[in-house]
Amino acid sequence: MANRGGFSSKLGFIMAAAGSAVGLGNLWGFPFEVGAGGGAAFVVVYLIFCFILCLPVMITEIAIGRKTQLNPVGAFKALGHKNWSIVGYMGLFCGVIILSFYNVVAGWAFGYFIEMLLGNFEIGQNFSSFTSNVIKVGGYATIFMFSTAFIVSKGISGGIEKAAKILMPTLILIILSLTAYAFTLDHAFEGVKFYLVPDFSKITFPVIYNALGQAFFSLSLGMGALITYGSYVGKNDNIVTSAALITLTDVGIAFIAGLMMFPFVAYLTNGTMEGAGQGAGLIFTVLPGVFQSLGSTLGVIIGSLFFLLLSFAALTSTVSLLEVPVAYVVDEHKVRRSKAVWMVAILIFIIGVPSLLSNGASDFWSSFITYFGAESATDFMSFAQHVANDSLLPLGGFLISIFAAYAWKKHNLIEEITQGNDSFKGSVIAKFIDIAISFICPAILGTLFVLTVLSRFFGITLIG
Ligand code: PFF
Repeated sequence: MANRGGFSSKLGFIMAAAGSAVGLGNLWGFPFEVGAGGGAAFVVVYLIFCFILCLPVMITEIAIGRKTQLNPVGAFKALGHKNWSIVGYMGLFCGVIILSFYNVVAGWAFGYFIEMLLGNFEIGQNFSSFTSNVIKVGGYATIFMFSTAFIVSKGISGGIEKAAKILMPTLILIILSLTAYAFTLDHAFEGVKFYLVPDFSKITFPVIYNALGQAFFSLSLGMGALITYGSYVGKNDNIVTSAALITLTDVGIAFIAGLMMFPFVAYLTNGTMEGAGQGAGLIFTVLPGVFQSLGSTLGVIIGSLFFLLLSFAALTSTVSLLEVPVAYVVDEHKVRRSKAVWMVAILIFIIGVPSLLSNGASDFWSSFITYFGAESATDFMSFAQHVANDSLLPLGGFLISIFAAYAWKKHNLIEEITQGNDSFKGSVIAKFIDIAISFICPAILGTLFVLTVLSRFFGITLIG
């Protein structure tokens, strides 16, 4: 087999995989899902999903990757009947779709970083004219895709790992500083209270499927990103402790993001928290106003740091999203890495054009589809998120569990995890992973997938 490269150490892998996990999902998605979904009540549901359902799937993905040292399509083919490669192709499809819209949002984040540096705080009120400015956003998104491709073209240890080792510690430093600063502002406590006081009445079925989609998306699971990263992991590395550390980092950063965000909003609204539940727009519409109120110098510093944080978090995630199709093209079609990278990056950028146009620039893409039973139309970017994040990722998790338990077979999975972790076989954790992969994950993920699709796209709510 050609030399595919690999991570230089266990820490390098953990940083890169945590970099994949920590992204816009943590900073942009998690806090307001918590705010809108019952505060601490949501956090409890989310944590249960992360540790009971997602962690076993993550361990399995890494094990499949390390065993085969291949991309998802090749990996499923190598370990099972060739029909299983469909699951790999589905992951590939999902990764391409996610990167196509994710890169646009990353472009917004990067654009805001520049705007904050220039002291343009009014951009918060002009968010929709910003997102519908195709030239501007297209330009920022191009720079973002270019940076992503540049890193991936440098290979695993010289590109992806190196970038993660610089970006992840910087990111943690920025988020901790911003959180500490947010706590010094007036009304900070009201913000924290809004974020965390549990309200169990808000735990409805849509909140539960949002939590599941969010957990899969945030942990980069269900599409083979971690099969791909796992294919570059050394045989002596302990997969279980690596996966646990990746999950803890991801959950920890998401949680801290909320602790940073809501005091900011409380400060701006004098503790009334008006608009705090407004969802996706929060970061881009409300926060610039907060930075403006800090005065011009401090506002520029805090505001640009915030959007730099967002851009860095997004970059380590886009890198992992691009690596999935690139690894496929390199492994299966024997194309040189650098050529594969630029080809795939350009293709995905083009696939992202409808997302670029779906936030005001074109009426067609901005009101792309109306689901059965829905009152208003959904734009293309949200539609892509509903299909990929909320539906296909949990479906992928379901299929990966079934595959590992019944096609590849559990004892092979356990054997692979035991490499680099001698005491694993026969341990309580091994028992748990066995039961989770064979019963709990398939049953719960399969059921939630069906319920989610029925409810989201067809307006049929069986539970909730
Ligand atoms: N985990 C990333 C986030 O939370 O923003 C998004 C993501 C990256 C999803 C890589 C899937 C993936 F393969």
